[in-house]
Amino acid sequence: MPASSPQPNAISIVEVGPRDGLQNERIRLSVDQKLAFIDGLVAAGLRDIEVGSFVHPKWIPQMADTATVVRRLTNVDGVRYWALVPNQRGLEAALEAGVQNVAVFVSSSETHNRKNINRSIDESLAEIDALAGAARTAGCGLRGYVSTVFGCPYEGAIDFERVLGIAERLFAAGCGQVSLGDTTGMGSPKQVRDSLTRALERFDAQKLALHLHDTRGLAVANALAALDVGFTTFDSSVGGMGGCPYAPGAAGNVGTEDIVNMLHAMGYATGVDLPKLLAVSRRLEADFGATLNSAYFRYAKSTGRPTP
Ligand code: HMG
Ligand code: MG
Repeated sequence: MPASSPQPNAISIVEVGPRDGLQNERIRLSVDQKLAFIDGLVAAGLRDIEVGSFVHPKWIPQMADTATVVRRLTNVDGVRYWALVPNQRGLEAALEAGVQNVAVFVSSSETHNRKNINRSIDESLAEIDALAGAARTAGCGLRGYVSTVFGCPYEGAIDFERVLGIAERLFAAGCGQVSLGDTTGMGSPKQVRDSLTRALERFDAQKLALHLHDTRGLAVANALAALDVGFTTFDSSVGGMGGCPYAPGAAGNVGTEDIVNMLHAMGYATGVDLPKLLAVSRRLEADFGATLNSAYFRYAKSTGRPTP
């Protein structure tokens, strides 16, 4: 994922707002509101959208209605809807709802993995091996996340060799792409450049993505560092919503508007229509009461301009 290699000068965006964005939001969107949100993202040109997760509703109540959302999604040619699953139980629910693209996740920090999904890293990888087989048999696309790759709020520094080893295991399980998650925005541009250069010595750029959170305001700088070393896929969340509830201080993902604006300003194509995306953000804030932090959204709001 994406299925075809990016064209030179083209960058793929994976929109995670309906999952990562909403999972940490104080407001709860109804199923109809989520569907309107997702339809807006499709209309804005996004082609890979993570629409929710099949996790325990006691821990992440915002995702309790993901099965209903998935059942009511509009099929659009070329659009892949993804759902996050933590275990076999989640996969079974996802398949029953008709999910066709599954994302699995594991942390490179034992403590974060335990707090997030109550398993050791090895237990998670064994579970992923088993569920990946079932997902592939069902014909699903499979994507993996490694979390806390540039540092963990509980354990501090993370050995990047361990991150690469876990990514290797996710590829071996059948993941077509592995997204490296800076779960609490601990990376800096030099660290990103050095680490991702090592990642690209091991894996093709098309098989990797970068999943940045903007906790310390460095997400766009970190995206630029990754772009410079050859990354071509970035996860982002419209309005900069998001965060892992089991990672203290985790702020939202890099805003889709911010990363798209940077890429367009540098001459890259993303397929995303920024004014249409801003219409989605405006609606999220004005109609649904979401808290949006992306710099470009605030700029557009204060100037009333839909375009740069
Ligand atoms: P557990 O308590 O260890 O689960 O939770 P269990 O296997 O012991 O089962 C306990 C009960 O949960 C049982 O029910 C199971 O059926 C049920 P009971 O018999 O007591 O009635 N159960 C489930 N229910 C619904 N959906 C399921 C499921 N699995 C078991 N899938 C579990 C383990 C993973 C479920 C729990 O810890 C959980 O839901 N955690 C939420 C994790 C989460 O969503 N975190 C945020 C997403 S990850 C993220 O944001 C990072 C990322 O963005 C990348 C980055 O930024 O780095 C991806
Ligand atoms: Mg995340």
